[in-house]
Amino acid sequence: MKKFIIAAVLAGISVSASAAEKVRFAMEASYPPFESIGADNKIQGFDIDLANALCKEIQAECSFTNQAFDSLIPSLKFKRFDAVISGMDITPERQKQVLFTQPYYANSALFIAQKGKVADATALKGKRVGVQNGTTHQKYLTDKHPEITTVPYDSYQNAILDLKNGRVDAVFGDTAVVNDWLKQNAELAAVGDKVTDKDYFGTGLGIAMRLQNTELQSKLNAALDKIKQDGTYETIYKKWFQQ
Ligand code: ARG
Repeated sequence: MKKFIIAAVLAGISVSASAAEKVRFAMEASYPPFESIGADNKIQGFDIDLANALCKEIQAECSFTNQAFDSLIPSLKFKRFDAVISGMDITPERQKQVLFTQPYYANSALFIAQKGKVADATALKGKRVGVQNGTTHQKYLTDKHPEITTVPYDSYQNAILDLKNGRVDAVFGDTAVVNDWLKQNAELAAVGDKVTDKDYFGTGLGIAMRLQNTELQSKLNAALDKIKQDGTYETIYKKWFQQ
């Protein structure tokens, strides 16, 4: 049997009895500290460390793919990968299309602008605000703030470049990500209070999978319970959010 397996592996035939479960994750990786491309060209961040810890727990091999945020749910449904971990809010609207794990991070949103240029959120009336395509930020602004011109971008990196160039007056993103931009850019400042409207920003961040995949959902939920209890979650959280 052993000889057969070795021969089969050499011949490139997959041997299911010995193969570990594989979980293919996808994300849009220009969103530090959740996910970004590191100096070694690999995807890094809180979501990656979390996914790796969960995969270790469920004894699966994980892989990570970077692609446009607004294509993540359609591609997941099309089975191009098995799960999305991308700073994604668990919203009632998305729950019609995908299953989520329990929340793994309490999220909120925040505006950012050039220092001294925008007094508060009401001063954004008639102004241009950058958001990423397909995000809860985009939907919230277009639904709730028609008096603001919402400017969609493929990545938040480009939105921030345009904010610095003055092509948009503000950018609207997740609080932890805005805090990261503030650290990198002394000329920028947060505007107004955190936005936590549950209809739009949901109940926290979750890992998404296909509606049928209840097996993976219960495995990941159990693994999340485990790493929250044994301190692994806290270590990863501190590494990315409390430096
Ligand atoms: N939290 C927001 C949402 O769920 C934005 C997430 C953007 N994530 C990213 N990796 N670019 O829509």
